[in-house]
Amino acid sequence: MIGRLNHVAIAVPDLAAASAIYRDTLGAKVSAPVPMPAHGVTTVFIELPNTKIELLHPLGDNSPIAAFLARNASGGIHHVCYEVDDILAARDKLKAQGMRVLGDGEPKIGAHDKPVLFLHPKDFCGTLVEIEQA
Ligand code: CO
Repeated sequence: MIGRLNHVAIAVPDLAAASAIYRDTLGAKVSAPVPMPAHGVTTVFIELPNTKIELLHPLGDNSPIAAFLARNASGGIHHVCYEVDDILAARDKLKAQGMRVLGDGEPKIGAHDKPVLFLHPKDFCGTLVEIEQA
């Protein structure tokens, strides 16, 4: 079921400072900030040879990452995203195995214009997992 690692998402308190670390210190290709009001975040995309890093910063009053940053003041890994060939089949198979899908269980369009779902961290080794239609 599980395919490529699509990205690792890191919540950061200072998007410009985090972008500079990846661009200037680590020498990565770093995008300009992209506001995503529907997701309550501003995202910076970092392309690595084999995967992506996404820097997330809260946008708006009800950002889903605000509480995470309140607990992790210097930032931290927020979720990992794995690709699946068929997101609905993956969802149904995971639910049949007792895994919890967050929200209403219907895929939403994610940062790459593809359907995504989030899975409960307590079911996946303490890590919030995003699955994305490949
Ligand atoms: Co993500």
